[in-house]
Amino acid sequence: MDNVAHTLENLHTETRSFRPHASFAAHANATSYEYKKAGVDRLQYWREAALRLAWREPFTEILDWSDAPVARWFHDGTLNACDNAVDRHVREGRGDRVAFHFVGEPGDTATLTYADMHERVQKAANGLLSLGVTTGDRVAIYLPQIPEAVVAMLACARIGAIHSVVFGGFSAESLRQRIDDAEAKLVITADGGNRRGAHLALKPLVDDALAGPEGQGPAASVEHVLVVRRTGQHTAWTEGRDVWWHDAVDPQPAAHEPVWVEAEHPLFILYTSGTTGTPKGLWHSTGGYLTGAAHTHRLVFDLKPETDVYWCTADVGWITGHSYIVYGPMINGATQVLYEGTPNTPHEGRWWEIVEQYKVTILYTAPTAIRTFMKWGEAIPQQYDLSSLRLLGSVGEPINPEAWMWYRRVIGGDRCPIVDTWWQTETGAIMISPLPGVTATKPGSAMTPMPGVCMDVVDDAGRPVANGEGGYLVATEPWPSMLRGIWGDRHRYVSTYWNHFDGMYFAGDGAKKDVDGDLWLLGRVDDVMNVSGHRLTTTEIEHSLVSHPWVAEAAVVGAADEVTGQAVVAFVIVRSDAHGVPTDGDEVAAALREHVRRQIGALAKPRTILVVSEVPKTRSGKIMRRLLRDVAENRPTGDVTTLADPTVMDAIRVGLDAGTGD
Ligand code: PRX
Repeated sequence: MDNVAHTLENLHTETRSFRPHASFAAHANATSYEYKKAGVDRLQYWREAALRLAWREPFTEILDWSDAPVARWFHDGTLNACDNAVDRHVREGRGDRVAFHFVGEPGDTATLTYADMHERVQKAANGLLSLGVTTGDRVAIYLPQIPEAVVAMLACARIGAIHSVVFGGFSAESLRQRIDDAEAKLVITADGGNRRGAHLALKPLVDDALAGPEGQGPAASVEHVLVVRRTGQHTAWTEGRDVWWHDAVDPQPAAHEPVWVEAEHPLFILYTSGTTGTPKGLWHSTGGYLTGAAHTHRLVFDLKPETDVYWCTADVGWITGHSYIVYGPMINGATQVLYEGTPNTPHEGRWWEIVEQYKVTILYTAPTAIRTFMKWGEAIPQQYDLSSLRLLGSVGEPINPEAWMWYRRVIGGDRCPIVDTWWQTETGAIMISPLPGVTATKPGSAMTPMPGVCMDVVDDAGRPVANGEGGYLVATEPWPSMLRGIWGDRHRYVSTYWNHFDGMYFAGDGAKKDVDGDLWLLGRVDDVMNVSGHRLTTTEIEHSLVSHPWVAEAAVVGAADEVTGQAVVAFVIVRSDAHGVPTDGDEVAAALREHVRRQIGALAKPRTILVVSEVPKTRSGKIMRRLLRDVAENRPTGDVTTLADPTVMDAIRVGLDAGTGD
């Protein structure tokens, strides 16, 4: 509870509250009746939500919890995710509606209607079949944010194959780990993507991943690599294994009958950092997941599919992209913006230019982006017409009240409701959020659990805390889009999420109930860090650092950072017997940072690496990260009485003052 206690002390009491505008409430998708309905009969509420999907065979049972904590929702019904996201719109006369306004970073654009998507997913499904992929097989997707990424995911779903999207920022080694764990048969990638005006190569990383480091050898499960031509970069080619998308997919017939799967059929695996160092392959079902994604998207974003232009700025490589670009919005027939690039390429007004040009009405982004825009100054967004916006969303980390207020005033013109949405890869869909048009919002609070979702804040003994108190965030009842497990490891699923409190799902976050009972998220209580909304664990970075021949020991903490929320700060002890270690701490730090980038990916690179002679440990040998966080955040060191050697902290501070740090 280290983190929680610390944040609780710092949390000032927020008294501002913003009621929904009457004009918004009058047309909102949600009313307070949602809470009432769900309160009366939660399962019936979810049944109704599920019935909005297109089912091939209707389900008769809502929830089977007999094998708890593995839930089965709507399990005797059959459906297809791609049919729901694409075919259904064409079938029901909405084929001409734009599904995506794609904007590439170099300025290339494409408009894709639902009919266009229909043609593409059918060709891609036939392409996958021609490469020997079939129902139940796993497919790794390692692509930039381009339409083919969405098409690839949906084509997998169409044939009942299970996609495992790996964010393009991960290294070859991280990709390999994920390919091996899921035993992927196919990897879908591109020659490269566009990043800050340059071509970023992807295919060579796939080649490295599949070749494997010395001693490991080639990835056994992969039969083919399907390559989209995006940048036109030269790429090495393995005959027989590598296939161009334009050769394997484009010539295929645009006719394919979706494979009808049972509701519990796995739709995808998505890896997140695990505390033991190896990433966890969280997997989601079809019927329950789609119910959660579509239902929350309609209520929380108030989507009016005929008139809204919705833009979620996440990458499809993360859960936010899965639930709130691909599945939720497409099932609801949304018109979306899909943007390949970064916010400051070619200039710092790029996002607002896109909002103006496409008349975006709903924007969903992360606090780290908002804080970056604050830093760049409000003069930039003010150069653009943002009057089309009517609703703003936030996700990924706690949003500080200052950023919330700035978002509301500068981007939302004081008229747009803000939905601060708390959820996780595990939860599949939004769990805590205001309902626009219903909830009066407080800057910095995610407010209350969604209708049909049961969450609480409990103390160490699992007892609900009183209003005004803090504790651990838990879910007390199963929900349709909950993860079904960790791929291939039921034991790890149970021990990670269900062993902390009897019968409750442990989210890993600290939270506080304010005097009204509204929820304030306080960050992680485990060793998970949240850097720019990306989830990393201290252990995986420590493992990477100690695998370098210069490093004897490493301790990593997430230190508060104004822009990224948290930043990775590493304390390393250099081996006394290592050869060729530079005497300059900066050089050591630069080499180690590059090492972590190569091993895990750029997103895990420590912001700061400090070379120290000792790290503080308890008598039982546990690293006391709390004390290191004090150092990293420039605070006086807290209680050191449990340290095995209380002088260690002095030695660290003296060493750092003497300039051995980075
Ligand atoms: O700590 C919480 C934080 O992000 C974690 C989940 O990370 P991930 O699985 O990568 O999913 C991110 C996108 C859904 C949570 O345990 N988090 C997410 N949203 C919020 C948040 N913390 C505070 N407020 C939020 N709105």
